[in-house]
Amino acid sequence: MMEVASVLYGREDIRRRVDELGHTITGDYVGREPVMVSILKGGAMFLADLMRAVDLPLETHFMAISRYGDAEESLGRVQILLDLETDVTDRHVIVVEDIVDTGLTSRYLLQVLRRRAPASLEMCTLLDKSARRIVPLSPRYVGFDCPDRFVVGYGLDFADRYRNLPDIHQVHDLPAFRADPDALMPLLTGARAA
Ligand code: IMP
Ligand code: MG
Repeated sequence: MMEVASVLYGREDIRRRVDELGHTITGDYVGREPVMVSILKGGAMFLADLMRAVDLPLETHFMAISRYGDAEESLGRVQILLDLETDVTDRHVIVVEDIVDTGLTSRYLLQVLRRRAPASLEMCTLLDKSARRIVPLSPRYVGFDCPDRFVVGYGLDFADRYRNLPDIHQVHDLPAFRADPDALMPLLTGARAA
């Protein structure tokens, strides 16, 4: 029987790659104090690790957004649920995302932030599902170019669950997983400790 999911990026691969991204960002922003904007909730875990890999003074702020339904049906309509409580005019802004999929959410977000006239605006995403892109968007910093699979763990969720899995798992049978979202519970019910 086919497994519902398997590890795509293990915690050690993630740690190494996040450290590399931190190094690169440090080199690129030397002499500046970037503002890292993390998108709740998925981007929070990545931000927590990434910021500690950046050897520069920096600020972190959060935004929360929601998309209406599926990308295809909502045509990228996005609502800001939580906005920045700081002015990013003339600041060097780095948007920290868990994953860029169709690109619709990120495009909207970048438009909103660009109107606030930052000195620079870049995006850092842990995963880039570039094969699924609907709108052209190339994040400056990418952790992994992710295959066209549904993934959970390390901040990524299915219906708000599984964010606390330390590894990133790819779902092999999405219809089966949708029908039974508990299918990955064995990964979270003490099986790791056993
Ligand atoms: P986009 O607007 O299609 O680029 O969607 C980006 C958002 O969709 C991400 O911030 C995630 O919340 C969600 N998303 C896209 N692909 C996945 C996935 O494979 N697993 C979990 N969430 C995903
Ligand atoms: Mg999500």
